[in-house]
Amino acid sequence: MSRTILITGGAGFIGSHVVRRFVTKYPDFLIVNADKLTYAGNLENITDIEQNKNYRFERTDIVNKQDVINLFGKYSFDGVIHLAAESHVDRSITGPDEFVFTNIVGTLNLLNAARNSWKDNYSGKLFYHISTDEVYGSLGSEGYFTEETAYDPRSPYSASKASSDHMVRAFHHTFGLPVVISNCSNNYGPNQFPEKLIPLIINNIKNNKPLPVYGKGENIRDWLYVEDHASAIDLIFHRGRHGDTYNIGGNNEWKNIDLILLLCSIMDRKLKRPAGSSEKLITYVKDRPGHDMRYAIDSSKLQKELGWSPIPDFSAGLEKTVDWYLANTRWLERIISGEYEKYYEMMYSGR
Ligand code: NAD
Ligand code: DAU
Repeated sequence: MSRTILITGGAGFIGSHVVRRFVTKYPDFLIVNADKLTYAGNLENITDIEQNKNYRFERTDIVNKQDVINLFGKYSFDGVIHLAAESHVDRSITGPDEFVFTNIVGTLNLLNAARNSWKDNYSGKLFYHISTDEVYGSLGSEGYFTEETAYDPRSPYSASKASSDHMVRAFHHTFGLPVVISNCSNNYGPNQFPEKLIPLIINNIKNNKPLPVYGKGENIRDWLYVEDHASAIDLIFHRGRHGDTYNIGGNNEWKNIDLILLLCSIMDRKLKRPAGSSEKLITYVKDRPGHDMRYAIDSSKLQKELGWSPIPDFSAGLEKTVDWYLANTRWLERIISGEYEKYYEMMYSGR
């Protein structure tokens, strides 16, 4: 194997797409997927590649310093692509502590281990930290987040991600660790845990359950197909300038309510229900506390410098996503039993 790459959080939504891409595209790289398998981690997401010769899975809790030291002792990593995180804003509001442990302490443990194992000889090494556009705060109706936008995180989730970004940069400036960071907008696609808006709405329409719209449904998100994020990560990992940040976005802004209406019409057609039937399930509920109004990413640096572009057609990506959830009922049903039911009850009853 020419290089050994650690991917953290590879059993989660985005991580599973990144692992698949790297394992299949780079057969001469050994890809080590380290994941704790929290509620959001699911090895079923990557059963298609688990037998590949260049793939290993390590059950690792990045918050556990010794676990991380052992992992770096077992393999000689050339690169780290760090995706493991607590990722759901609503959960960070009901319980911020886990976000501090995983997103801040976990990242620090990985940075320390990389630095110690590379022993200040950084030739051919890279620590790539995957972050979010939420670190930049909330926009009004105008403007975009650029790489120069000042950080202004407003939820415990975004505050923990901002903190980890700062720590990654601090290791670059203080110790010379070769790092790169990317900040991406909202992802959608197959394998996303159904606590997030798009899979939650698809699942609820399928089961004729109310579609909870926070506030007036006027908040805006910039949606990107998950495989486009994986292709950007691939490019940045190989060609990104060390010490730099790259914004990744879909240039695809949608008001929540308009996106939900679009999903309703796609689902009516796919489920052969009369037009307009899913719309009747829309229920306006209490807003998310501190709900950021608008995210919109300017990804021109990535497009100009590295030649990246997302697939242009959102409706095709959404159709593909709906088809995947309708075809993978066993995947979905296993997730929405047990723990998920308790979470759903806690989050949405009386809202
Ligand atoms: P996810 O919640 O689907 O997956 C997270 C993964 O991390 C899971 O497999 C989980 O088991 C693992 N994990 C959690 N705690 C861990 C720990 N202590 N040790 C080891 N593994 C642990 O998340 P996602 O949506 O795939 O997001 C992945 C990354 O991308 C995160 O860093 C997130 O902040 C970032 N991001 C996500 C989006 C998005 O729209 N989902 C957008 C931009 C950036
Ligand atoms: O912008 C990138 C971020 O996008 C990532 O860093 C996060 O990990 C990811 O979870 C996502 O955060 P959001 O809070 O934007 O995603 P979520 O799917 O939770 O919500 C999208 C929008 O939909 C948001 O405005 C809240 C609203 N919403 C969400 C849910 C779950 C509802 O109206 N109803 C809901 O039931």
